[in-house]
Amino acid sequence: MVNVLLIGNGAREHALGEALVRGGAELSAYMAKTNPGITRLCNNNVKIGNLDNFLDIANFGKKNKVNFAVVGPEAPLAMGITNALQAHDIPTVGPTIECAQLESSKMFTRSLLKKYNIESNINFKNFFNIMGISKFINDIGLENVVVKPDGLTGGKGVKVWGDHLHSEQDVMDYCNEILNNNGRVIIEEKLNGEEFTYICFVDGVNVVGTPVVQDNKRAYNGDEGPNTGGMGSYSMHNHLMPFISIEDVKYANNQMKQVIDAVAEETGSQFKGFLYGQFMKTKKGLKIVEFNIRFGDPEAMNVLPIMKSNFVTVCQQILDGNLSGPLEFDKKATVCKYMVPEGYPIKPIAHSEIKIDEAEIKKLGAKLYYASVSEEEGKIFTSTSRAIAVLGIADTLDESEKIAEKGTTFINGALFHRTDIGTQEVLDKRTHHINKILNAE
Ligand code: AMP
Ligand code: GLY
Repeated sequence: MVNVLLIGNGAREHALGEALVRGGAELSAYMAKTNPGITRLCNNNVKIGNLDNFLDIANFGKKNKVNFAVVGPEAPLAMGITNALQAHDIPTVGPTIECAQLESSKMFTRSLLKKYNIESNINFKNFFNIMGISKFINDIGLENVVVKPDGLTGGKGVKVWGDHLHSEQDVMDYCNEILNNNGRVIIEEKLNGEEFTYICFVDGVNVVGTPVVQDNKRAYNGDEGPNTGGMGSYSMHNHLMPFISIEDVKYANNQMKQVIDAVAEETGSQFKGFLYGQFMKTKKGLKIVEFNIRFGDPEAMNVLPIMKSNFVTVCQQILDGNLSGPLEFDKKATVCKYMVPEGYPIKPIAHSEIKIDEAEIKKLGAKLYYASVSEEEGKIFTSTSRAIAVLGIADTLDESEKIAEKGTTFINGALFHRTDIGTQEVLDKRTHHINKILNAE
């Protein structure tokens, strides 16, 4: 029996936990707050505490005689949980603090890509004060400007010309605001195209891919409204997208391999864990938007439930440095829809009861992953973030979407979700968008 400690409490971790248990693990979990799904997978062997309390996490792991730990979220990784647990002899699937810079510092990453001549990098410049910003934005053209803070921002700190910035004053004001907060701002070239997520398992040297997924970041149908942590995602039965070819995926994999080698060379530490590549297909080819050093949320729900290879074995191989691909995934399409509190992400209605008909969801064949909810006396309540993910898996995207959509009808409360995610209409819109860009003069 392999004892595994899971760290984290979102829907992503629920999906990680499910894949570990399916792979034969005896699971325990350290969570910031109770996730009812994970608690069940662990037969109640869970501990609630702060995810930055590395000593307490290590002690809980030792008490459970864990063979290794799997870390879900980026924040503890960026603070060095892997280094800390390793110092307590707990092998950990997740990058060290040195390698975690690939997500925790956009400046580090863009500079690394530049230094190692990695082709899918884009034009950018790091600034530590306001000097030179005006010249740089004039050089690249105002309409090509994207402004980013240099730290973990939960995907919410990035401002893009046309979407959030509409004048030079807006750009300068935002740069000043960021500089006043943390003294570092990065300005980069705006990309036009379609984004996709490509998550790889990495054992320090080998980079093994999983099916390509597309997330939907805007809060409302038709890609309207504010950006969120991700309202839902889909993947196709052939593990590609209509606008992403197998050659594109091979290229993305090659770029990620170069990044893994560069990070090892630069920091002296090998990346072991899950590397999330966010790419954009543009007229100039595939470009890196950013890296995350962990599984995607919601993308974990698209990838892990259809994984046929044993996830416990894969984790062991990541740690041992003998991972070999390709891994096997069911030839199925998936659609994941997040149900979020009314008012999310601006003024979410927290602590409102959610009623879930699990029997009907099971009968339908949909899957359910708990995210940010609380359980009190057997009742489930919303908090301020995404509440529950509903997943449909089927031979076609259309069937998966219908299953996910039907699944949402068995969850009642002050919640909403995007009814258009995974529909043919959205797929056609994305394909049309990219074709227009690729065919433009
Ligand atoms: P990030 O936190 O870097 O993933 O940025 C959040 C979102 O901002 C991305 O998902 C993109 O939609 C958008 N974005 C980031 N960088 C760029 C860029 N260089 N060009 C266009 N959009 C971008
Ligand atoms: N799907 C967005 C993220 O995981 O950051």
